Amino acid sequence: MPGPLLQAAHERRRLLLEALEHEGTDCYRLFHGVAEGYPGLTVDRYGELLFVQTFRAPLSDEERNGIERALQSWELPVVFRHRPDGPAPLSSPALCRELGRQLTVRTHHPGLDPYLFLDLRVARRWLAGHHQGSLLNLFAYTCAVGVVASGSGSSLNVDFSQRHLEVGVRNARLNQIPVERFETLCEDVLPVLRQLAGLPVKGRGAQRPYKRVEPRQFDTVFLDPPTWSRGRFGAVDIVRDYASLARPALAATRPGGRLVVTNHAPEVALEEWLEGLRRCALKWGRRIEEVEVLVPDSDFPSLDGSPPLKIAVLGVS
Ligand SMILES: C[S@@+](CC[C@H](N)C(=O)[O-])C[C@H]1O[C@@H](n2cnc3c(N)ncnc32)[C@H](O)[C@@H]1O
Repeated sequence: MPGPLLQAAHERRRLLLEALEHEGTDCYRLFHGVAEGYPGLTVDRYGELLFVQTFRAPLSDEERNGIERALQSWELPVVFRHRPDGPAPLSSPALCRELGRQLTVRTHHPGLDPYLFLDLRVARRWLAGHHQGSLLNLFAYTCAVGVVASGSGSSLNVDFSQRHLEVGVRNARLNQIPVERFETLCEDVLPVLRQLAGLPVKGRGAQRPYKRVEPRQFDTVFLDPPTWSRGRFGAVDIVRDYASLARPALAATRPGGRLVVTNHAPEVALEEWLEGLRRCALKWGRRIEEVEVLVPDSDFPSLDGSPPLKIAVLGVS
C-alpha cells in the first residue's frame, strides 16, 4: 500500500526538506520508487503542485485514494501521470523554486519529463557556489544549469530541441538574466562541440548546412548527455563511447577550468567511468588534476549506495 510508505518516506526527509527550504528550494522528490518499497512509483513536489508518476503498472482506485489521503496535509493539488501512456496534451505551466531561482515545470506535454530533473540539483548547487565566468551547457534541455551559471557569469546553452530551449529562455527571463549573459544555440551538440574544440565535423551531416561556431574555451563545461541518441552527425552512446563526447569537451575547457560530467547509465560503474575519462584526457594532451564526485541529495536514495546518476567535477589542466 503506497499510503504508509509515503508517510515513512516523508519522515526520512524531514531534515533535508528543512535544509532545502532554507536554500530557497521548493521542488524535491518525496518518494523514490523501488528504493522506498514501491517499484515504478515516484512522487515529486514541484512548488505549487504534487506530481505522482507511475512507470510500470497503473494505480488501482484504492491505491490512488491512499496516495491522495497520504498527501492531503500538503494542501496542494495532486497531479497523476502514467508514463507508459506516452506523450500527453499540454497542461498549463507551473512554477517552482530551486536555490532561489524560479523555474518552469509542466506535468503534461509532448515530451515525458516535467522540464526539471531534480536529481541534478546537487550539480546546480555546485555551480551556484563555484562557477564564475563562461559556461558551456551541452544537452541543455530547459537550461536550468545555464540559468544558475548566468547568475555569476554567462552561459551558452546548446540543444537540438527549439521547444526545450524556448522554455530555457522563459526560465532566464523569470530570473531577470540579461540577454547578453544567456545565449541559446539550437543545433546538434556533436558538430557544435567539435567546432568549439577545433576538430573536424564528422558524419553524413557534415555534407549539409549546420550552424558554424568558432573554436573557443570556457571556464566551465557542463556535459549532461542522454543515454543514447542518434542523428546525422553520429551517435551519443554514454555506455560504449563516452570518449567521443569527453575528448572535445576537454578541449573546450580552458586550462585550469572545470568540466562537469554526468553519466546516467546504471550499468556504468563510477570508478571505471572516471578511469576512462582520465585516460581520454592523457591521450589528448590534457590532465585531470582533481576529481570531485557529487552525490544526489537524499531525496534520491539508492538501494546499494551506487546511484545510477554519477556526477563528477573534473579540474582540468
Ligand atoms: C536528459 S536531457 C538533459 C538534461 C539537462 N542537461 C538538464 O540540465 O536538465 C537530454 C537533452 O538532450 C537533448 N539532445 C539529445 N541528443 C542531442 C544531440 N545530439 N544534440 C543536441 N541535443 C540533444 C534533448 O533534446 C534533451 O533536451
